[in-house]
Amino acid sequence: MQESNLNRRNFLSLSALAAGATLLNMDSPASAAAPVAADAPVLTILHMTDTHIRPEHDAPARCQKILAAILKNHPDINLVLNTGDSIYAADYGHITRERVEEQWKIWDETVMPLLKGLPILHAIGNHDPWWAGPEGDAMVGYPYVCKRLGIESPYYATRRGGWEIIVLNNSKASVDADQLAWLEKTLTALPPNAPLLLATHVPIFSLAGTYDSGNMSGGKKLVDLLAPRTAAVVALSGHIHIQSSESLWNIRFHCNGALSGSWWEPGEQQVGSYKRTPMGYAIVRLWADGRSDSQYHPVPYK
Ligand SMILES: [Fe+2]
Ligand SMILES: [Fe+2]
Repeated sequence: MQESNLNRRNFLSLSALAAGATLLNMDSPASAAAPVAADAPVLTILHMTDTHIRPEHDAPARCQKILAAILKNHPDINLVLNTGDSIYAADYGHITRERVEEQWKIWDETVMPLLKGLPILHAIGNHDPWWAGPEGDAMVGYPYVCKRLGIESPYYATRRGGWEIIVLNNSKASVDADQLAWLEKTLTALPPNAPLLLATHVPIFSLAGTYDSGNMSGGKKLVDLLAPRTAAVVALSGHIHIQSSESLWNIRFHCNGALSGSWWEPGEQQVGSYKRTPMGYAIVRLWADGRSDSQYHPVPYK
C-alpha cells in the first residue's frame, strides 16, 4: 500500500514537472512569429542523452518501455540524436573487458532495436570509452566506441533538412588542437546563412554545467567561432543530467536531462531524478529558416 501511494505521488509530481518543463522550455526566436500548424519543421529530433544502459535496476526493460512510449507519442520524429554516455560506464580503472562487452551488448539488444528504421547520429560520452585495457588493445579508446555506435569518426559533419549538423567529441571536457582546427575549417566552408546544429556530450556552455561544475573547458573559444555566423545555431548537449536552456546572441543552448536520470537508480529524491531534473528526453524541432523549439519531456520513474 505504501509503495503504491509513493508511486502515485511520484506520478503526480512528475506530471506537474512535465507540464512545467514543457512551458519553461518552449522557445521561439524573439524576432520570428511562433510556428503555425501548416508550417512544418524540417527536422523533428529525438534528443536522447546519458542513457547509461546497464544490467542493474531493470534498466534494459525500463529503457525499452520508455523508448516505445516516445515513438508512440511522437510519430513525427525523423532523426535521433544521441549525445553520449550510452552505456553506464566503461571509463573507470577497474572496469573489465567483460563488463564493457556486457554493457554494449545490452545497448545493441535493447536500445538500438527500438530505434531501428530511424536515422541516428551519435556523440561520444566520457563514460563510453574503455581505457583500462592493455595498450594497443582493439577495445581501448575511441575507435571501439565508434565501431559500437556505427560512426566513422569521433567527430563529423553532416547535413539534414537544410541544417548543417556538426557532432564534436568533447568527452574529455575539451577539444584538442586538431579537432578545433577541423571545426574552424568546417565552419569556414559553410554558407554563412546555413542554420547549424552542434551536438556535444559535455555542454559548451550551460547553467546546468555552471551549477554542477561540468561545462567543457575552452567553451568560450567555440562560442566565439559560432557567434559571428549570421544564421541560427542550436547547441545540444547532455552530461550534466540537469536540464537548462540559454540563449546568447544567435546561439541557443539546450543541455538536456538524462534518459537514465540518476543512472536508473532512485536518486536523492527517490523518483529517479538527478538534482530535480527528472529522467527524460527532448523533442527538438528545426525549421528551414532557422527557427527552433526544444521541449523537455520527463518520463515516469517506473
Ligand atoms: Fe552521464
Ligand atoms: Fe557524461
